[in-house]
Amino acid sequence: MMKGQVYKGFSKLTESEKRKLVANLCDEPDSAELEMAAFIVKDSARRELFMDLSENTVSAYHLPFGIAPNVVVNGNVYHVPMVIEESSVVAAAASSARFWAERGGFNVKEISTTKLGHVYFQWFADPESLYSQWPELKKKLISGTRLVTASMVQRGGGITSLGLTDDRDSIDNLYRLVVEFDTVNSMGANFINTCLEELAQILDSGLNKGKTTDDAECRIVMSILSNYVENCTITVEVRCPVKNLAGITGGLTPQAFAEKMLLAYQIARTNIYRAVTHNKGIMNGVDSVLIATGNDFRAAEAAAHAYAARDGQYRSLSSCVLEGNSIAVSLTIPLAVGTIGGITNLHPMAKKSLEILGHPSSAELMGIIASVGLASNFSAVQNLITTGIQKGHMQLHLTNIFNALGATPKQRQEAMSFFQGKKVSFAAVKNFLDGTIS
Ligand code: MEV
Repeated sequence: MMKGQVYKGFSKLTESEKRKLVANLCDEPDSAELEMAAFIVKDSARRELFMDLSENTVSAYHLPFGIAPNVVVNGNVYHVPMVIEESSVVAAAASSARFWAERGGFNVKEISTTKLGHVYFQWFADPESLYSQWPELKKKLISGTRLVTASMVQRGGGITSLGLTDDRDSIDNLYRLVVEFDTVNSMGANFINTCLEELAQILDSGLNKGKTTDDAECRIVMSILSNYVENCTITVEVRCPVKNLAGITGGLTPQAFAEKMLLAYQIARTNIYRAVTHNKGIMNGVDSVLIATGNDFRAAEAAAHAYAARDGQYRSLSSCVLEGNSIAVSLTIPLAVGTIGGITNLHPMAKKSLEILGHPSSAELMGIIASVGLASNFSAVQNLITTGIQKGHMQLHLTNIFNALGATPKQRQEAMSFFQGKKVSFAAVKNFLDGTIS
């Protein structure tokens, strides 16, 4: 028997009809309906804005908006907004940022900002004739997109290169227009896709002149930007003399700590099991700033993991070196972000985030995001090779457990002092609150 019931015409229902229907799936429909409604912002302008961001909206999903203060990037100080539900991520990024702020901060070593898109098409006639038409066609493609690129060109960007690639070694008759873009301070997804669809039309009419659909020699398959932005990457680095690591070494000498750190980074470089978790720690920081600033974290995740596997093996995105008496830890990550356009100008909290960051350019924002990614990563590895991560993590997690168990303020206070320095688990806290352990 099929589980669940099919809804017909769900999108046509009013917001409250949809909510009622969905609340009926919950354990306590009446209170679920009220709770879902309660999370929707009340004032009408904001309400309309949020409800219209997506479709079939029946409620809103809140996440904490926190700050990692004093993140120093290229000598500038930023107080970085982070949106994340996982306890200890903001605290870890903040503590690592404070540590590095006193040791020269995070520095951008390399940055490239080229975005990419493709028009996939099949060519059924002689390949020679395609290549002989290409120079003329290229001129038409460039002049034919002037209208759609005009305002981007005015802002200093536009199409920066246009090429033709033969993909027949993977699929019969397949070719690809390879288009590079400079989208200045916008992520540029809409701009790129509009340009590509315009290019596809020009390509189609240019190559199929006088032909009908039946005898067309060129068949457009699709036009889409690529989230694999291998030329839109940033490298940030922290560096200090090994002796200046004192204070975070968990009882090890600075030299022994640095060597253990190096080993931990080497494991993440060579072992996929560790590499994925190591990179997850980087993305804790990266995603939370992307979300706070209204950027597309799914695009960044997809690009980061493909980039991590670019030589055929999935590896860590960050690395550590010991050079002379110094230690350097760096992160290279693809990041296509924007500080204008899209949700960055629509979502009130994304706008606030960009204000808090001092209205950065997209290149500046790349530096800030990568630095928070590296801060999160450094903090995680530092904990792993010293005290382990559970100590700090579970102390912060206590609050979530208290909330889940509905602990009173008095119980919280008693439990806080009871669990000082002890292992925290959901079961242990429950037992303590029930009076089973004391
Ligand atoms: C937890 O969200 C992230 C870590 O597992 C990252 C790491 O292991 O490097 C702590």
